[in-house]
Amino acid sequence: SNGGEEELSHECKELLLSLPKEKGWRTPHLYKYQEFWCQAIEIQSIVSFQRHFQASDNDVVLATIPKSGTTWLKALAFAIVNRKRFALENNHPLLTSNPHDLVPFFEYKLYANRQLPDLSNLPHPRLFGTHLPFPSLPTSIKKSGCRVVYICRNPFDTFISSWHFLNKVNPGSKAPMSLDEAFEMYCKGVIGFGPFWDHMLGYWKESIERPHKVLFLKYEDLKEDVTFHLKKLAEFLGFPFSLEEERAGDVEKIAKLCSFENMKELEVNKAGKSIKYFENKTLFRKGVVGDWVNYLTPRMVEQLTKVVEEKLGGSGLSF
Ligand code: A3P
Repeated sequence: SNGGEEELSHECKELLLSLPKEKGWRTPHLYKYQEFWCQAIEIQSIVSFQRHFQASDNDVVLATIPKSGTTWLKALAFAIVNRKRFALENNHPLLTSNPHDLVPFFEYKLYANRQLPDLSNLPHPRLFGTHLPFPSLPTSIKKSGCRVVYICRNPFDTFISSWHFLNKVNPGSKAPMSLDEAFEMYCKGVIGFGPFWDHMLGYWKESIERPHKVLFLKYEDLKEDVTFHLKKLAEFLGFPFSLEEERAGDVEKIAKLCSFENMKELEVNKAGKSIKYFENKTLFRKGVVGDWVNYLTPRMVEQLTKVVEEKLGGSGLSF
C-alpha cells in the first residue's frame, strides 16, 4: 500500500507535488497542507469538504486531533442531543453502533472516496466530526451559528496513544515505528493534523474570543468529573438537562453508556469496523490518564516538557 495514493485525482496529485513532505507514521509520507501535516488521501477529501460543505446554524462540529478522546466526545454529544429520540434505557443506538458511524467524519466518511454526500436527510441538529485545525475549517462553519466542540488531551498521553494506535493499524508492509523515532517526529510537530500545539492553540484562542461558538474541553477534566462536563456540554449545545432529568439520573445514565468500560465490551466495538483503515477495537486501549509514565524515559519527559512550555507557555492553556 502507498497510503491510497493510487486513488487520487489528477488535481490532488498536482497539489501534492507542491507541498513539503516528511516520512509518515503509517503511510510513506505526510504532506504539509495549510500549515498542518496529513496523508495524501486525506488532503483530497479535505479539499472537497472545504469547497462544498454548507453549515446550518444548528449544526454541531466535534473537533479533535487524533487520539484525544474523539470517540468518547462523539458518544457523549450524540446521546445528549438525541435523548428525546432515543431513550437511554434500552435499544440505544450506541449499544449497537460505533460512535464514528453515528457521528461521521467529514474527511474520512462524508467527503471521502471522491464523492459528495447528500446531507439533506440527516436529522437536525446534525453532528459531524473532524480533525481539521480551526483555521482550515470551511468558512460557513466559522461564519454560521454552527457550534464547535473541541477536546484535547495532554500531549504525553496523546503521543503514547498515537504510537500504539498507528503501529496497530500499520499495513503489514511497513516496519513498525520505534518509540524513539515516533517521539522525535511528534516533538517536531510531524504527526497527523499536527503540530499538536498549533492545533490546540487555534481552538483555544477561538474559544476565548467566542465562547458561545467554541467549547474547549480536556480529556483529563472529563475523566475527573464527567457529570459536570456532560452538563456543561449539554448547555453549550442548547440541550440543557431539566431538573426532572437530573433527578431521574439521566446525566449519570449517559456517562455510563459512554464510559470506556461499557463501550469497550460492546460486540460492535469488539468485532466491528467503522472506518476504512482499522477495526473498532483499536479505538479502545486503556482509556486512562498518565499511561505515559510506563513508556517515556526521563530524557523524553524533559524534552517534551520543554516543547510544551515553549509552544503553549503564555497561552493560558496547560495540562
Ligand atoms: P488510550 O490509547 O490512551 O487508551 P480517539 O477516540 O480520539 O481515537 O482517542 C482514543 C483514546 O481514547 C484511547 O486512549 C482510547 O482508549 C480512549 N477512549 C476511547 N473511548 C473512550 C471512552 N469512552 N472513554 C474514555 N476514553 C476512551
